[in-house]
Amino acid sequence: MEIVLDRSTGLPISRQIADAIRTAIEEGSLAAGEKLPTERSQGQDLGVDRMTVSRAYDILAGEDLIVRQVGRGSFVLPRRGPQAPPPPPEADLRPAILWASAFASRTASLDAGAAGSFHAAPADGAVNLSSLFPDPSLFPVDSFRRAMDAVIRREGERLFGYGSAGGYPPLRRQLVATLGDRGMAVGEDQIVVTNGSQQGIDLVARILLDPGDRVAVENPTYTGAVRLFHSHGARILGIPVDEEGMRPDRLEEALARNGAKLLYLIPNFQNPTSGTMSLARRRALIEIAARHRLPILEDDFGGDLRFEGSELPSLSSLDRSGSVIYLSTFAKKLFPGLRIGWLAAPREAAGKIAALKQMTDWNTSLLLQAALHEFCRRGDLDRHVRKVIGLYRERRDAMVEAMREHFPKAASFTRPAGGLVIWVTLPPGVDADGVALDAQAKGVFVGRGDLFFIDGGTHNNLRLVYAQASPVEIRRGIRILGAILHRKVREGRTAAAAGATAPLPVI
Ligand SMILES: Cc1ncc(COP(=O)(O)O)c(C=O)c1O
Repeated sequence: MEIVLDRSTGLPISRQIADAIRTAIEEGSLAAGEKLPTERSQGQDLGVDRMTVSRAYDILAGEDLIVRQVGRGSFVLPRRGPQAPPPPPEADLRPAILWASAFASRTASLDAGAAGSFHAAPADGAVNLSSLFPDPSLFPVDSFRRAMDAVIRREGERLFGYGSAGGYPPLRRQLVATLGDRGMAVGEDQIVVTNGSQQGIDLVARILLDPGDRVAVENPTYTGAVRLFHSHGARILGIPVDEEGMRPDRLEEALARNGAKLLYLIPNFQNPTSGTMSLARRRALIEIAARHRLPILEDDFGGDLRFEGSELPSLSSLDRSGSVIYLSTFAKKLFPGLRIGWLAAPREAAGKIAALKQMTDWNTSLLLQAALHEFCRRGDLDRHVRKVIGLYRERRDAMVEAMREHFPKAASFTRPAGGLVIWVTLPPGVDADGVALDAQAKGVFVGRGDLFFIDGGTHNNLRLVYAQASPVEIRRGIRILGAILHRKVREGRTAAAAGATAPLPVI
């Protein structure tokens, strides 16, 4: 490429160099990825100093036409299309940043590899009893598309802009009405629509927790919440549970010893134990929380998926002290890709949360909120929930019956009245890690119970999800699992008889 400079025009030389290179890029004589001459050699060629060339390159970098890489040079960027300039060969890299030491301390618990593992679906033919998602084959794709078409036709470009942080007003009003039907009197301004309930947990953690603060949780509990609390520097108090829910005596003890800033509870079809908290326990925990001035985050992620029995009042509806932030989601009853959850909070907290939500990501997609609202307005959500409840009940029954038939008598398991999971307690001496590994080798994926405990916990539980597999697959998976358990029990006996103490395999 030839650059001709004209000193008579009065146009700065750096600008003339930039103009010439820009023209060459636009005309295609300099291709994406091509390296520009170094500032020094370009300067020598043109008879100008290095700084003049550097200024020219700065101009082009400011226009996103080139990228300047310290120690490597300047490269032409692609003008259109997604192609980036070819990455430098590894050997050429001279890292200026030691990333491992650059990260903020609150990220210490973040595992960079974990983000993708969520999508690592078991291979075809495998039985997935591990992922707590609704069954994709049940997603109401067509009716949701119709709702989406209708709102776009009706509201057009208004839905393509930014919205208010609290959420799309008709959806918020609808949520207020739904809560009203369930004995929760909240105003529209107390609702914040979030990107999944995961964002709700995050926002609540961020308005309440300073590093070092304690959060009391059921032990075991949802690992996604614990990881989030950790990422905000919180310390976790894992409070044991019994068949009624979190034990009040143990909560009292922990609060007396350590105090806490937040109590996180999953009262319905708890993840992972599948238990539903009794009414008496709900009242007891609310009373303790109010006495200790301890805000409660009530995560009702799956309460709508009830197969039988009657719904118990939410903590939020029982509370008279303004201590409860209620959280819910459309992820399990509808589909998680919607990424729409919501919370209802006491006014002061709702205002802070909405302000934080706005600062974080402005608002949840208006388009999706409007489509969801329309989907609900048409009665499609109710129809869908009725349908999936019927199917999930069949799957629960298939799993429970198969476990009765194939599991050793010394194994016990829950029979939840709703939700998507069953909690298994293995026969004494049988290690869940080994069972999970053996099952995986035979194409059956199960959740190790210990992963849900705050302190590593016991190694004799499994969490089994019946949402993903058909009744036939469930029966096959449980039969395989049962054979593994029987073998482990026999091996345990033999080992005990021989006095063996070799540890069982751990992942
Ligand atoms: C107890 C609980 N709360 C919240 C979530 C987050 O759900 P989402 O962000 O998809 O609404 C999950 C996901 O599995 C969960 O199990």
